[in-house]
Amino acid sequence: MCGIVGYVGSKPAQSVLVNGLARLEYRGYDSAGIAIMGDDGIGVTRTAGRIADLVSVINSEQGSYAGSVGIGHTRWATHGAPVTKNAHPHQDCSATVAVVHNGIIENYIQLRDELIAQGHTFTSDTDTEVLAHMVERMGDQPLELVVRNIMEKAEGALAIGVVRASDPELVVAARRGSPLVIGLGEDENFLASDIPAILEHTRRIAIVGDDNVVSLRSSGIAITDLAGNPVEPIVREIEWDLESAERGGYDDFMLKEIFEQPTALRDTLAGRIDEHHRIHLPELDLTAREARAIDKVFVVACGTSYHAGLMAKYAIERWTRLPVEIDIASEFRYRDPVLDDRTMVIGMSQSGETADTLAALEYAQAQGAYVVATTNVVDSSMARVADAVLYTRAGPEIGVASTKTFVCQLVLMQLLGLYLGQIRGALDGATIELMAKSVRALPEQVEQLLEHADDIMAMARKYKDVKDVFFLGRGASFPIALEGALKLKEIAYVRAEGYPAGEMKHGPIALIEKGVLVIGVATSSHLHAKTLSNMEEVKARSATLLMVLTEGDIDGQRMADDIAWVPHAPELIAPVTAVIPLQLFAYAISKARGLDVDKPRNLAKTVTVE
Ligand code: G6P
Repeated sequence: MCGIVGYVGSKPAQSVLVNGLARLEYRGYDSAGIAIMGDDGIGVTRTAGRIADLVSVINSEQGSYAGSVGIGHTRWATHGAPVTKNAHPHQDCSATVAVVHNGIIENYIQLRDELIAQGHTFTSDTDTEVLAHMVERMGDQPLELVVRNIMEKAEGALAIGVVRASDPELVVAARRGSPLVIGLGEDENFLASDIPAILEHTRRIAIVGDDNVVSLRSSGIAITDLAGNPVEPIVREIEWDLESAERGGYDDFMLKEIFEQPTALRDTLAGRIDEHHRIHLPELDLTAREARAIDKVFVVACGTSYHAGLMAKYAIERWTRLPVEIDIASEFRYRDPVLDDRTMVIGMSQSGETADTLAALEYAQAQGAYVVATTNVVDSSMARVADAVLYTRAGPEIGVASTKTFVCQLVLMQLLGLYLGQIRGALDGATIELMAKSVRALPEQVEQLLEHADDIMAMARKYKDVKDVFFLGRGASFPIALEGALKLKEIAYVRAEGYPAGEMKHGPIALIEKGVLVIGVATSSHLHAKTLSNMEEVKARSATLLMVLTEGDIDGQRMADDIAWVPHAPELIAPVTAVIPLQLFAYAISKARGLDVDKPRNLAKTVTVE
């Protein structure tokens, strides 16, 4: 996610902003910039790279501006490569406006076309730049009113900070969905996407509500809603130290990222399902004829991404009737797979840098396949190699164990399956509509599920000394069983195995005895009754049974020793919610054992060696 900082007061804004941005470095970013209100208008300094690079540009004279009002930004690319021209702040044609922005403007293409038709010239590939031109278009009207108007026109979740040369003492900000707070000082006020950016200046924080617009002057702040009615700020005194503020008050990045999943899902879905429940993935740049020419799909990935890839197999096969093979990336290129120009190869990777997956995509491309990268990092190596890129928009993930990127990979694969089914004519409208609605409901369902996180973790702590765990599932629940087991191995160092529930009787059931914990992922599906029979088999051999069940499942409830409930969803959509209790389970056990959740032993977030 991008970081925002703003300042109005009497100190040199440049250093307040740069220090604030440096406090946001831990979140990951690819470029940075600031805009300072000076006597000769707005001075903008920005660059691709680190804060240190920004400081070098500032120190190079052309980049240094005096002034005590300004805005700053660290960018995590979503639209356009991480290059200087796409770094924020963005400006209008006359360079009298500067804007920083966090979030995604879903209708930016339409807004940009409209502005271009009106004579505006664009200099970046970002969605943000439309905002600067929209401010310019509204002339001298009060800046608060202009920002209210923009917030009404721009769709999606966003937080913005705006300055205008004709208002040298003013910063206006607004938010919907994306985070934004105001720091209250003595004759100075601050704006930030995250509290750590301003914590060294003030601990008095005003929370900005959705669709609220804030004007910041050194003398004070004023908040209004979109109709212009005053809003009384909610002011809190922050007691966190800097380190816990970086984690948003959570104990660990992993827990923070688990709780960011609703937002990550919303951002990943943004603009990809329209009001008629049609799926849009223009990034694939496929005509219906080209889509119909594909006769086979491969998915290649490692680790958690491999589990999301398995889910893709179920979704794409079911909805397109195309055969899908799934490979561990390190195996793929050495087994001489059969590929040609009618093969689609999907590389799944949070980082876009994993050496095995990258090499697999290069190999596939050399064989003439159509290569699609799915990654969370814009312009990563895989994004550059691939013929097309589908981005998850989960924001930077810092905890080594993937959580929010995994659920985003799952929904992206659901969308891809539906999209291919739609464009190839393999799916009827009613099915697409039902699935699209169910996918759209996921962010809210996850939000509701997370309200019970404490209960799930309390239940998990009962098993803190467990030694052997089997995670079992069938169909689309099988990848979730694998992912639950991987999470527990990664962060709690517990021997855990994910297994297809129906395959237990062919060997592993010999290991089941008293003291073994079995976690059955048994959400509603056409295999539900069969999964329950498999659970009976392990229960009969004295295993303890914890089950992930769809709300209202009385049959499952009867046999389980413990239950994590998840909301209703069609069987190929349900994995997104089913994994969340398992993330919390691993997290709670790791914490109960006193382990470092964010940096588990022997593991790296990104593995760039073979
Ligand atoms: C490492 C990480 C895993 C991750 C895997 C694949 O092993 O520890 O959490 O799933 O790499 O990473 P990728 O960035 O390609 O998804």
